[in-house]
Amino acid sequence: MSVLPKEAIIAVVGTGAMGAGIAQIAAAAGHPVKLLDNRPGAAERAIDGIRAQFAKMAEKGKLTAEAATAAGTRLIAVGQAADLADAALVVEAIVENLEAKQKLYADLESIVAVDCIFGTNTSSISVTAIGAALKHPERLAGLHFFNPAPLMALVEIVSGLATDRAVADTLFATASAWGKTPVHAKSTPGFIVNRVARPYYAEALRLAQEGAADNATIDAVMREAGGFRMGPFELMDLIGHDVNFAVTNSVWRAFYNDQRFLPSLIQQELVDAGFYGKKSGRGFYDYREGAVRPAAQTEATQAPTGKITVFGRSTAAKSLAGRLERSGQSFSRAPDHDGMIAEIGRAALFVTDGRSATQRASESGVANTVLIDLALDYDKATRLAVAAAEQGDPLAIASAIGLLQAAGFAVSRFLDVPGLAVMRTVAMLANEAADAVNQCVCSAGAADSAMCLGVNYPRGPLAWADQVGVATIRTVLANLGASYGEDRYRVSPLLQRAVFAGRNIHG
Ligand SMILES: NC(=O)c1ccc[n+]([C@@H]2O[C@H](COP(=O)([O-])OP(=O)(O)OC[C@H]3O[C@@H](n4cnc5c(N)ncnc54)[C@H](O)[C@@H]3O)[C@@H](O)[C@H]2O)c1
Repeated sequence: MSVLPKEAIIAVVGTGAMGAGIAQIAAAAGHPVKLLDNRPGAAERAIDGIRAQFAKMAEKGKLTAEAATAAGTRLIAVGQAADLADAALVVEAIVENLEAKQKLYADLESIVAVDCIFGTNTSSISVTAIGAALKHPERLAGLHFFNPAPLMALVEIVSGLATDRAVADTLFATASAWGKTPVHAKSTPGFIVNRVARPYYAEALRLAQEGAADNATIDAVMREAGGFRMGPFELMDLIGHDVNFAVTNSVWRAFYNDQRFLPSLIQQELVDAGFYGKKSGRGFYDYREGAVRPAAQTEATQAPTGKITVFGRSTAAKSLAGRLERSGQSFSRAPDHDGMIAEIGRAALFVTDGRSATQRASESGVANTVLIDLALDYDKATRLAVAAAEQGDPLAIASAIGLLQAAGFAVSRFLDVPGLAVMRTVAMLANEAADAVNQCVCSAGAADSAMCLGVNYPRGPLAWADQVGVATIRTVLANLGASYGEDRYRVSPLLQRAVFAGRNIHG
């Protein structure tokens, strides 16, 4: 793999939020960088901004003053495409429009050298389609940075149908030399991150639509049990519903309306209302002056009345036993019993398997069934979502909630929806990542790195599936599919194969 040498000139066309960030990275890595924008003065303003960033980094001791000045002087604003003739790589970060990107690169082909590489930063347009306008489409690949580019480690290197592997490899090696973590991906809708992340929003929107819990409660569960940095609703509000909804729609349409990616009517309503989120002052939450952020619903403290038994050696059971021990609660241990985690009086606790508690109670004959959600780490989780069977006795259920509270969890009670919040989201994230791997979009390692580095997930979805157990994930998906009767929850063939082979996804 050949890295572009430091003296290679990098051109950045489009010097808005992304282009300026990419120019900053290339200049910091030692390249001369030429910036071009069709808005008069925009390239110069971007350079001023980048130099100010370098100066700030020098103040913080992240760069020497000399290095900051040197990096700043490597940035050159140019006024026309003809000035990019000596570029070794042209990164485009112009408007997200196929015709504009095709025209830019087609015009550049008659200006730059035959071995000049084109790297498009498009987040949603087919790299294959951009390449179709070129005489030499093999020189074009996606070079997809994440926002803010200087801070986000991930770069998706996206190969279109005609992309020369050597070009993708050079971009991969160069992005690594720039301190980034590149991953290879095939040009398919959403590439890796924007495809695999869809269920993070979609499952939460479905929970909200069913009134499973309020938005603040679902957000709190995803953060405090799931370990995600932001809950889905606050994240959508931050991204902006216009942008998030447009990405969901474009992925859904690009996959010929596959139910997996079905957009949400709730989000359509927000877009129709102009409630775009933080930037417009209203979204799922109210950001206007004086507005109070609603608190998550937390069950009032209840007494754990009844004899407590913790069953088996599952991760959840071991953590629960450890937490009860630390809080001085007396309990006894027993071997595994039908997947039960614990029993208190007449109530039985299980981790959700994608069935509702009501269905599970009806099938098992255990009326007082209480289900707990998945946690990233049951030792460290501060909150758990629970659901109880409709046929359960309220006193027995209260006692089960009291047991979880005695173990130090804040408990949020959901309506009895199948799969609760973290479990169904993680199962669907893993399913989507598995499908991307199964369809040769990327490797399992690339899918996990992409989600950890591109959107800060606490664990790669496939590594998470391995940890929970691929058989459990498959069961959850199959049960969700049976509950909703929707093709959306069909299990990826890759997951199925791993289950039948009795192995993990990562081997
Ligand atoms: N903003 C993000 O979070 C993000 C993340 C990853 C990728 N992207 C992609 O990066 C690209 C740029 O996005 P952005 O957010 O920086 O947009 P932006 O609007 O901030 O900047 C785009 C810049 O390109 C200039 N421009 C438009 N058409 C041009 C042309 N034909 N020639 C020269 N300059 C032109 C505009 O004047 C503007 O300065 C898009 O393709 C977008 O999908 C955006």
